[in-house]
Amino acid sequence: MRNARTIRLLAAGLVLAVVSGCKPLDDTMVMVFGRSMRDQRSFDPYENPRPAPTHSVSFASGNYPSAPGVVNVGQPEAGADVPFFTQADMTPLGEGNEVVASLVNPGADEAALARGQEMFNRFCAVCHGEAGVGTQAYIAAKHPTVGLYDLSGTQVAGYTDQYIYGMIRVGRGLMPEYGSRITHFDRWNVVNYVRELQRRANESTADGN
Ligand code: HEC
Repeated sequence: MRNARTIRLLAAGLVLAVVSGCKPLDDTMVMVFGRSMRDQRSFDPYENPRPAPTHSVSFASGNYPSAPGVVNVGQPEAGADVPFFTQADMTPLGEGNEVVASLVNPGADEAALARGQEMFNRFCAVCHGEAGVGTQAYIAAKHPTVGLYDLSGTQVAGYTDQYIYGMIRVGRGLMPEYGSRITHFDRWNVVNYVRELQRRANESTADGN
């Protein structure tokens, strides 16, 4: 019995080999079934299937360089020495503990502020408003209570830079953490842009507008 089965299998193999000649088995499949799995609508590894639509938002700013002249390999903190901290380290309010306080703001020039604005409008404006005024946030109409957090007002102006950086990295309550999506240097760019928004808000109040 066993032998008969083996012989039948061998015979089938032989027939296939003869039918396919020197061609791969795949081509035989094409002859028999009209198509082969080799020719599918699939992407090769690393093949970019389609260019990203214009104005689309990338998932992570980790795709951008973390600093001028630096190639970012996709790690949000590449090239930066950032101590580990969590929401638990974000007390006292507006300041954070000594780990948070040890962060160093690299400062911002024109380009960094422009970058901060781009990041802010992309990630923060939806809930905090483009000018840092919560009631102007895009979500305010739908979720009025979430859209009340002013970043340009006096309260956040009294927070330390490090605390705002920490808020971006670890989030709190309904505010998501953006640590994986906004790189170290971009977080500082956003912090410095928030300071710029506060300065502008302060000026317009002083003008009586
Ligand atoms: C999904 C909506 C949402 C987005 C997006 C968002 N935030 Fe928030 N943010 C909140 C909420 C809600 C709070 C209040 C958190 C709480 O009550 O604990 C908050 C609080 C804050 C605070 C502290 C304010 C305070 O008075 O305690 C800062 C600073 C802040 N956000 C900065 C940012 C920055 C910078 C970004 C962009 C990187 C951002 N947020 C994106 C919803 C958001």
